[in-house]
Amino acid sequence: MIFYFSGTGNSYQAARAVCGPGEEPVDLAKCLREGERSFRLCPGETLGFICPVYYGGVPSVVLDFVRELSVSPAPDYCFCVLTCASSVSDAAGMLGEALGKRGIVLRAAYTVVMPENDSIHYTISPEEERDAILSDAEEQLKVIAHCVAERRRLGLHIPPRGKMVTRAAYPYYEQDRATKNFSVDDSCVGCGKCVERCPVGAMAMEEGRPTWVKEKCALCMACIRCGAVHYGEATKGKKRYVNPILKCCH
Ligand SMILES: Cc1cc2nc3c(=O)[nH]c(=O)nc-3n(C[C@H](O)[C@H](O)[C@H](O)COP(=O)(O)O)c2cc1C
Ligand code: SF4
Ligand code: SF4
Repeated sequence: MIFYFSGTGNSYQAARAVCGPGEEPVDLAKCLREGERSFRLCPGETLGFICPVYYGGVPSVVLDFVRELSVSPAPDYCFCVLTCASSVSDAAGMLGEALGKRGIVLRAAYTVVMPENDSIHYTISPEEERDAILSDAEEQLKVIAHCVAERRRLGLHIPPRGKMVTRAAYPYYEQDRATKNFSVDDSCVGCGKCVERCPVGAMAMEEGRPTWVKEKCALCMACIRCGAVHYGEATKGKKRYVNPILKCCH
């Protein structure tokens, strides 16, 4: 069983690539929204988690899901694939610790560099650069899928500097995911797609326009895909990212 979380499609692409034939990855944010926390594995079935790296750690929604997760029987092989734009820091350590509290041992952590989706802090790459990164990622994902199929036990191998980066950066995630920072401009046509895409139900349509109805969200960039949505002044006039897999399937 492979659980994934993805705001803009990179981790969904990774999850699809790592799934075995006929297997579909499971959207953990949907499970969380619908109160599904208990899962049964077939004897010998692999358990996987695929998600992006945020602020050197894992998204809040992944930790919320794992915190109440119950999987039986305990998996013999559990792995994760972390997608990031440059550096994974100690995200695997953070996920491994959360899983450990549920009695699940993370046996291998894989990392794949994919295009930057954070248009709040960075500039989104032009399409040629994006395509080159995606094509490298596709090759890396084939290797990862092979290692997962062979159930390689690689451990987590977190560089000492990774732990320091996570410790310094992750607290800013808590601060930045306050939804008071979001706004919508007059180019909004009221289609409601941003609300449908929000994985944590932090948005609703009110009088034909999106509003943010929870104090905090996952800061996943799914709503920012639409150029009418802004995060303070930081995203104004900036290009937004979405993985091509979502343009064709969603
Ligand atoms: C809020 C936020 C924080 C991020 N922090 C990091 C980071 O610490 N290190 C990194 O390499 N990439 C970081 N990224 C980039 C994403 O991890 C990367 O683009 C990922 O593949 C996006 O996955 P998705 O398309 O499945 O949502 C961040 C992105 C967001 C939205
Ligand atoms: S902000 Fe964009 S996606 Fe959301 S309702 Fe308006 S036009 Fe649609
Ligand atoms: S409000 Fe926007 S950025 Fe926050 S979780 Fe929802 S879709 Fe993602």
